[in-house]
Amino acid sequence: MRSSDHVRFAGMTDTGKAAQEADVSGGGPLVVLENVNKYFGELHVLKDIDLTIHRGEVVVVIGPSGGGKSTLCRTINRLEPIDDGTIRIDGQPLPEDGKELAQLRADVGMVFQSFNLFAHKTILQNVTLGPTKVKKTPAAEAEKYAMELLERVGIASQAEKYPAQLSGGQQQRAAIARALAMRPKVMLFDEPTSALDPEMIKEVLDVMTNLAAEGMTMVVVTHEMGFARASANKVVFMADGQIVEENTPEEFFTNARSDRAKDFLSKILTH
Ligand SMILES: Nc1ncnc2c1ncn2[C@@H]1O[C@H](COP(=O)(O)OP(=O)(O)OP(=O)(O)O)[C@@H](O)[C@H]1O
Ligand SMILES: [Mg+2]
Repeated sequence: MRSSDHVRFAGMTDTGKAAQEADVSGGGPLVVLENVNKYFGELHVLKDIDLTIHRGEVVVVIGPSGGGKSTLCRTINRLEPIDDGTIRIDGQPLPEDGKELAQLRADVGMVFQSFNLFAHKTILQNVTLGPTKVKKTPAAEAEKYAMELLERVGIASQAEKYPAQLSGGQQQRAAIARALAMRPKVMLFDEPTSALDPEMIKEVLDVMTNLAAEGMTMVVVTHEMGFARASANKVVFMADGQIVEENTPEEFFTNARSDRAKDFLSKILTH
């Protein structure tokens, strides 16, 4: 990549994926969950979750349906409140509400399974909306950065179109650009490719792989083994609201420790 094409993202380390030797940039871990518990009514969905995510680290979260993966992501940007424990981002506890919560949301980018773009806004407007409304970035500056990001995810030529005029893969790349426009410190991806037709999965994974290689701190719920093996520093296996196992991708995929993980892997690897 030519250096002129290179857009740097806030929160990136200089060491790229090598931030596996995390915290090389100093400043302590970026996201820390301690003893986090959450209930939906009687249902105990997150059980004593302890998880540390270092700067530049890529954490893949994997596990059976209903295990709490989405809820975990949603608690990190406080779309869901927690009942017990603490979550800190860059040393700061998650705020309850108000202006500080808006700031936190800006620090934590999120990409969902369904693309969640604003249907009545163009792709460019989707990407500039957060920066201009929340961060009060001047329109010209927001547009310039938005176009750089759209270039980066390969859809600059689609900037003036509306979401419905784009393929699923293009919409998901627009959703990634929209999240990046807020210059987040960490990006959360909740099964970003699972609603896509197979031929579009790669184009989205390629964008994520590049982000990872450039040192973005990422939490990715996915069952895409290729991505996990190539880009993850750590795999977290969740089942029944608990982190059952935390390991390197190599160890996890070839030598899972728990019966629960072995059983899960035998099911996903055979279809
Ligand atoms: N808003 C809600 N109200 C009540 N129960 C919920 C709510 N959201 C999730 N749950 C329940 O919490 C549990 C964990 O759900 P979650 O969506 O976090 O699982 P998941 O691991 O992401 O599953 P999947 O792989 O199917 O996406 C499930 O039993 C689910 O039914
Ligand atoms: Mg989920």
